[in-house]
Amino acid sequence: MGVYILGIESSCDDTSAAVIYDRKVLANLIANQDIHKNYGGVVPELASRAHQQNIVPVIDKALRDANIHKNQLHAIAFTNGPGLLGSLLVGASFAKSFSLALNIPLIEVNHMHAHILSLFIEDEQHKKAPDFPFLCLTVSGGHTQIVLVKDFFDMTVIGQTIDDAAGEAFDKAAKIMGLPYPGGPLIDKYAQEGNAKAFRFPHPVVPGLDYSFSGLKTSILYFLRDQLASDPIFIENNKNDLSASIQKTIVDVLMKQLKKAARQTGIRRIAIAGGVSANSGLRKALLHEEERGNWDVYIPKFAYCTDNAAMIAIAGYYKYLRNDFTDQQVVPFTRYK
Ligand code: KG4
Ligand code: ZN
Repeated sequence: MGVYILGIESSCDDTSAAVIYDRKVLANLIANQDIHKNYGGVVPELASRAHQQNIVPVIDKALRDANIHKNQLHAIAFTNGPGLLGSLLVGASFAKSFSLALNIPLIEVNHMHAHILSLFIEDEQHKKAPDFPFLCLTVSGGHTQIVLVKDFFDMTVIGQTIDDAAGEAFDKAAKIMGLPYPGGPLIDKYAQEGNAKAFRFPHPVVPGLDYSFSGLKTSILYFLRDQLASDPIFIENNKNDLSASIQKTIVDVLMKQLKKAARQTGIRRIAIAGGVSANSGLRKALLHEEERGNWDVYIPKFAYCTDNAAMIAIAGYYKYLRNDFTDQQVVPFTRYK
């Protein structure tokens, strides 16, 4: 008999609930919070309020979509961090009460580990999961890490950003261009029609396997300020080329350190995960290395790239198999550990 796990994700601005049966997703629901669009970024206080409103209906609908009764669940997995504290508290409190009410185990999940474990979700069109060890470039709105993954929960960060995350770089560049939040997917969309060689932005020089993206934001800001001085509609006229050039810069920077990490470790199994792994330029760059015979490449299905509860549930599943449970005293944490 298999295992039913309920996953709950509430680390940022999406309230998500998923039900899995072993490694198969039966339901994966996400309630987005449009309210933040008015502010150009996530407002933590508003995010926790929206989670509070969304969490019961989202979980209720996930159970109905999965076509199971709550009494059939074997365990509840929830994101315990990193993330926004007020947002995490909503998911954690609900998970604790629900596990108590149903008298089933409670499992805490690290959001960044879950992004990586999304590669192990079983899917008809997506059968390929990496063997250990592999390298994973985990790129989201809050983090950019190169992770050496030796086992499901044996993960070592061997490189990371010293300032902004890659998703933040996309979102900040989009904001400077006057695009709504989150701008990453929009830059990706406009980039498809643009010339990536139209404009050049400097690449940071960072030692080791670390990243830096804060300089890119400043160089885009100054470049556009100068252009707008002589041509007030410069951004409108060059939206596609600007997007393509910015995207190429970010992808080139990500790929350079990733290639260095592959050379240094001798590992050829390379994965990406996190919101920015939805980016078509980054996907293409990885697949290009696979076509050239350099790497075996692993990319999560589109639906499991950005924040979702299916990845929390699959991480919960592997912890369930190890009897790795937590108790009612567990408290959320904000920073990666
Ligand atoms: O993992 P995620 O959903 O949330 C965090 O844990 O941060 O990542 C969200 C980030 C945002 O910065 C968003 O702009 C970026 O992922 N993102 C993209 C794309 N889709 C999402 N960035 C570039 N291209 C995309 N297609
Ligand atoms: Zn995330």
